[in-house]
Amino acid sequence: MTRSYTLHRILLAFVFLTPLFSSSSNALAQSNFVFKVNADRPAAKISADMWGVFFEDINFGADGGLYAELIKNRSFEFGKPLMGWTIYPKKAAEGELLVVNRKGDNQNNPRYLQVNRATPATDSLSLTNEGFKGMGIRKGLRYDFSVLYRQAAKGIKLRFELMNKDNKVIGHGKMDPTEVGDNWHKQSASFYATETEPKAKLTIWLEGKGKIDLDMLSMFPEDTWKKRPGGLRADMVQMLADMKPGFIRFPGGCIVEGTDLANRYQWKKTIGPVEERQTMVNRWNTEFAHRAAPDYYQTFGLGFLEYFQLAEDMGTAPLPILNCGMACQYNTAEVAALDQLDPYVQDALDLIEFANGDINSKWGKIRADLGHPKPFNLKMMGIGNENWGPQYLERLEIFKKAIKSKYPDFKVIASSGTDPDSERFHFLNDRLRESKTDIIDEHYYRPADWFLKSAGRYDNYPRNGSKVFAGEYAVHADRTLVGSERNNWQSAIAAAAFMTGLERNADVVEMASYAPLFAHIDAWQWAPDMIWVDNLQCYGTPDYYVQKSFSLNKGTAVASILLDHKAVTGQDGLYASAVIDQQKKELIIKIVNYADQQKSAIFQVENAKKFKTTGLIAEMTGSSFNQVNSFEQPSAISPKQGDVKLKSGALNISLKAYSFYVIKIPMK
Ligand code: AHR
Repeated sequence: MTRSYTLHRILLAFVFLTPLFSSSSNALAQSNFVFKVNADRPAAKISADMWGVFFEDINFGADGGLYAELIKNRSFEFGKPLMGWTIYPKKAAEGELLVVNRKGDNQNNPRYLQVNRATPATDSLSLTNEGFKGMGIRKGLRYDFSVLYRQAAKGIKLRFELMNKDNKVIGHGKMDPTEVGDNWHKQSASFYATETEPKAKLTIWLEGKGKIDLDMLSMFPEDTWKKRPGGLRADMVQMLADMKPGFIRFPGGCIVEGTDLANRYQWKKTIGPVEERQTMVNRWNTEFAHRAAPDYYQTFGLGFLEYFQLAEDMGTAPLPILNCGMACQYNTAEVAALDQLDPYVQDALDLIEFANGDINSKWGKIRADLGHPKPFNLKMMGIGNENWGPQYLERLEIFKKAIKSKYPDFKVIASSGTDPDSERFHFLNDRLRESKTDIIDEHYYRPADWFLKSAGRYDNYPRNGSKVFAGEYAVHADRTLVGSERNNWQSAIAAAAFMTGLERNADVVEMASYAPLFAHIDAWQWAPDMIWVDNLQCYGTPDYYVQKSFSLNKGTAVASILLDHKAVTGQDGLYASAVIDQQKKELIIKIVNYADQQKSAIFQVENAKKFKTTGLIAEMTGSSFNQVNSFEQPSAISPKQGDVKLKSGALNISLKAYSFYVIKIPMK
C-alpha cells in the first residue's frame, strides 16, 4: 500500500463518514482495513431466541428487587421471626406480642403474630418494618397496604405511618379490621405518599384493646408492571422489555440446585395464593462469607406463574431450569438416589403440562384456575444448572427419556458444568454430543483476555448435532474492582468482541444470555451484573447496552464479513460479524476495535445497488477501560447514533480506539 493511497483513503474516511463524535484522545487513523461484506448468500438462520436474559434471585434480584413487595419478612418466616421488624416500646408487656407457630395446621406458612392488648401496659404499641434496605417511596404515588387477620371480636385498630429517614411522616392510613370469627380475612387500605424517599420505613400502630392475629403484612406501590396488584417493579421490567429479549431463563442459576436438596427450587411450591408459598432461605444468604446477607429469603411472590406471565408480556420464550436431582456440587453435592428420581422427573413433566396443557388436563386446569387458560407455549427446559460428572449424565438420561417419550419435539437443555475448558467440561460435552442432546448450556465467567481469545471458539465447532446455549457469561474484571465498578467499559467491549463470534456461528450457538441480570447496590453478592438498582432507580451498565445492541439488531440470517479473506476474530484488535434482517430489510454490521489506535475501515458491500445510500451508525466508546455508568450518569457509555453513507459500494468509517459500532444499511 503506497503512502499517497493511504493518505487518500484517510481523507475519504473523513469526507464520507458524517462526523459523529469528537475524538481528542485517539491517534490519527494509521492504515486502512478493508472488509468484504456479502449479504447475497445468507448463511445460517439466526434463531428468534438468539439473545435472551438470565434471571436469578441473587443480589436481591427478586425479593427486594423485581418483586415490588416493600415489607421484608411479611409473614415472620425468616430464621429469626422478627428480623426486619422493630417493636416499640422495646419491652412490650409480657404476652402482648407473640410469634405463634401453628406448624401442624399450616406447614407452608406456620408463623403469625398475635397481639393481645387486654390490659395494655403502655399507651402505644407499634411495629416498624425497615423494608429491604429501606423502602423506595415516590411522592404522589398510592401505596396499598394489606394484612391477613383473625379476631374473635372487634377491638384492635391499625394505623400506619410511612416515615422518611428523619422520621418525618410522609404518608399515613388506617384500618379497622371488620370481620370476626375463627377464619382468616384479608383487608386492604391505601394511602398516598407526600414525599419521595429512597429509604423509608413503615410503622404500624396497634391501637385499642383486644386480641388479633396478624399475618402477611404487605405493601405494594400502585405503579407495578402493567399495574398488576402484588406485581413487579415496572422500571426494572421495562429495562428488560426494552431489550426485546428472545427468551427469559429462570429461576437461575445455582438457586435451582440449592445448597442441599431440601433447599432446591421447587416450582410447584411457587404457584397459588402467595400466603401459601412457603418462604425459604435464599442460598445467597450464606454463600459468600464476605458478602453475607442474613436477611435474604425467598418468598416466591415472584413464582412460576409470574415468570411465565412476564415472558408472555415481553413476547419472549420462557426457559425454566429445573433441578435434576442434584444439589450444588460446590456445597453438599447431595444427590437423589436414582430409584427415587421420579418426583423430580414428574415435576418436569408436570411443568410442561402446566405451561402448555389443555385446560382439561390436571395441570392445564390448575393454570386456568390461576387465571391463565391460554397456554404459554413452552418449548424448552434446562435439566440441571451447573451440574457435572457421571452422576449428572445418568440422571439427565432418565429425564430425557421421560420428556422425549411424552413430548418428542420438546427441547432439553443440558449442563456442561461450571466452566468452558476443563476436563470436566470435555467429559460432559463429548458424552452429551454422543447422546444427541438437543442443546448444551455453556457458562463462562472469565477475564477479558479469555473472551478476546475465544472470539473464534465456535468457528470450528461441529455444525451438526447438539446446539450451544451460552447460558451464563460475563467478562470479569480484575478483583481490585468492586461491585458496579466491575461493569466497566473493558468488560462490555470484550463481551461485544466475543459476541461477534457467537453471532457469526448462529448455526451452532442458538441462544445466549449474560449473567447475572440485576444487582441491588446495597445488597449484592455477585458482581459484575447487567443492571444495577437501588430502591427507586435502575441503570444499565455498558454491558447492558452491548447486550441490547445485539438483541435489537439480531437479524434473521448470518451474512459474510471478511478481512483478508478471513473471519474477523481479533486481527489487529478487530472483531466483526454481519447479519441480514429479511423482515426489516437491512444489513447490519457489528464491529469492535479493541486496540489503542483509531482505525480507518472500508466496508466493501457486494451488490451494493440493492442498498440505500444512507444508513445508521451507533457508536459506543468509553474514556477509559475503567469508565462505568452510574445512577448519576446512567448512559455515560451508551450508543450514540448518527448517519453513514454508502458511496460507490463502500462505507468508509473511522473506528475509534476501543469502540464498538453497529452499522445498519437499509435495502432498497
Ligand atoms: O450468575 C451467578 C451464578 O453463577 C449462577 O447462579 C450460577 O449458575 C453460576 O455459577
